[in-house]
Amino acid sequence: MTIPKRAADYKTQTYWNSRFQTEDSYEWMGSFDAFAADLCSLLEPEFSILVLGCGSSSLSYDLYQRGYHKVTSIDFSDVAIDNMKRRYASVPCLKWVLGDVRELPQIFECDQFDVVVDKGTFESLIADEGDPWNPSDTTKKDVDLMLSGIQRILRPKGFYFHISFIQPFFRSRYLRKLKEEKNENPYGLDLISIHSIPVGLGYYMYTMSKMDRQCWTQPSNA
Ligand SMILES: C[S@@+](CC[C@H](N)C(=O)[O-])C[C@H]1O[C@@H](n2cnc3c(N)ncnc32)[C@H](O)[C@@H]1O
Repeated sequence: MTIPKRAADYKTQTYWNSRFQTEDSYEWMGSFDAFAADLCSLLEPEFSILVLGCGSSSLSYDLYQRGYHKVTSIDFSDVAIDNMKRRYASVPCLKWVLGDVRELPQIFECDQFDVVVDKGTFESLIADEGDPWNPSDTTKKDVDLMLSGIQRILRPKGFYFHISFIQPFFRSRYLRKLKEEKNENPYGLDLISIHSIPVGLGYYMYTMSKMDRQCWTQPSNA
């Protein structure tokens, strides 16, 4: 495994491409079994699911094996996407898309997915946040692009599962936008539950649901 020189490298395509040249398979923040029961309790077999930043994780295939056959996975590493296409060539219904999670509305249709799953990809995006009490402007912009994009491509009442090692106090601030900003829920994503995942150092699964259009006012800068 290639260890980055600086935390900020986790944000770069160059770092991930070089890592996936040699890393066939790696599971960040626990394997599917650790959170499958909570996640699957909200899913229907016909749901269309998007996995963000799939890397070399088996999550997309694990979902397929559980009976979810409409699974699309996106990553900005062409090496990862090529590896996954090769690894799962015998499962043609799994779709692999090369793209940036900050550009989701340019890649997918509005309301296209019932579910979006993110395991560790948000952490890459904020790898150079600086002071967590006062993140850098670049980090705030990237988070804004990713979360507002998820809001757009999720259908109303669709679910966003966000798996992270960051504790609720800090993570909720991002998910609800930083506290000091005026709009209470700019992404139209309702945080409906936080489950602990008792693996390794301990992780969390934040479950959000896209609010109905009528109960959500889009912020003017979205
Ligand atoms: C920490 S790894 C998580 C991998 C996988 N989800 C897992 O659970 O093991 C982050 C992944 O997100 C991808 N990634 C990072 N930033 C991205 C971006 N802006 N757009 C798309 N993919 C990104 C990386 O290439 C990498 O595969």
